[in-house]
Amino acid sequence: MTQVENFFPGLDGVIASETKISFLDTVQGQIVMKGYDLIELSKQYRYLDIVHLLLEDKLPNQEEKRKLENKLKSYYKVQEAIYEVFKLLPKQTHPMDALRTGISFISGYDDDIDNRALDANKERAYRLLGTIPNIVANSYRILTNQELVQPDQELSYSANFYYMITGQKPTDLQEKIFDLSLVLYSEHEMPNSTFTSRVIASTQSDLYGALTGAVASLKGNLHGGANEAVMHMLLEAETVEEFEALLETKLLNKEKIMGFGHRVYMKKIDPRALMMKEALKELSEIKGDDLLLRMCEAGERLMEREKGLYPNLDYYAAPVYWMLGIPIPLYTPIFFGSRTVGLCAHVIEQHDNNRLFRPRVHYTGERHAVSK
Ligand code: COA
Repeated sequence: MTQVENFFPGLDGVIASETKISFLDTVQGQIVMKGYDLIELSKQYRYLDIVHLLLEDKLPNQEEKRKLENKLKSYYKVQEAIYEVFKLLPKQTHPMDALRTGISFISGYDDDIDNRALDANKERAYRLLGTIPNIVANSYRILTNQELVQPDQELSYSANFYYMITGQKPTDLQEKIFDLSLVLYSEHEMPNSTFTSRVIASTQSDLYGALTGAVASLKGNLHGGANEAVMHMLLEAETVEEFEALLETKLLNKEKIMGFGHRVYMKKIDPRALMMKEALKELSEIKGDDLLLRMCEAGERLMEREKGLYPNLDYYAAPVYWMLGIPIPLYTPIFFGSRTVGLCAHVIEQHDNNRLFRPRVHYTGERHAVSK
């Protein structure tokens, strides 16, 4: 390929936006979120604290957190008509595609959709955060011929999300670990879906449209879809040795191993993966079953040895979700549910300080004179 000035395939290394939201500081090894290290935040704070931090610019006090939780709860219910839409979807529809349809559908109920003012956008963000667990859970239930589930206002935001997708109220440990996964997935600088949402928002399009596009982006297995792909890969093997053999074969066939590598971290471990690995250890110990943990650790050693590559968050989130009893097709929708807050923060920032994204191309096609 000829070298072309200002052309970086996949926009590798290109700075696309100024932001005050987050930044992957690969020098200091930190995921900086609103000035704090995400990993340190994840040890002390819960998902709702992160929501407040990202949308209100500060960690909440008790009263602010209570108000936030009540606001999200006020948006738990969805318009009943959405269930009719889900009933019309072919049963083979992936829950991410149902989610994409659901977000697109509810935009029509926003009476103020052309208002891009900060307060209006924030309210929309809270509405989406309140509604998405219901859309994720009940679209999946309809697609799999199960009864609808109603949100439980008595539970915390994370516990209700878990309850709606599994039908079981979580234990304290399950709630803690599920909430941790939401914290870790909440925001991560400029992955493909965030870029997608900002590109859409830059035309002055609305938050629902930006998030609808972001769902499609996040579904791909080079991005959010990797967590489901990791679980399917783990289930192909029944022992540590079989899993190692599977990875060897995939590498020989030049296949990408899901859950490894990252455009920004490159040859370093994703610090979020370490947190999820600890959660997997905790769950394995409580359940007295460490097969998945041993398989994952063996895979990690093999990939370091063979490729110098390290796990990303999806590699350990997948077995954690499995041990939490969550259906595999919901792993990526949960990732999206959590990332909704980060995406909304980015769309709001884009609307507040906008310049239309409109890059150029390096044309490699032919040119012809037009003649009859
Ligand atoms: N398994 C095997 N090899 C991998 C790999 C993986 N998961 N990730 C990267 N590589 C190899 C590539 O084959 C390539 O090798 P080569 O130079 O010999 O051809 C090299 O590493 C660079 O990979 P490339 O795909 O160009 O890097 P990228 O920055 O475009 O890719 C990802 C980043 C995330 C798309 C890539 O690592 C990947 O596909 N990972 C698996 C999917 C995944 O887990 N996604 C979630 C990301 S959070």
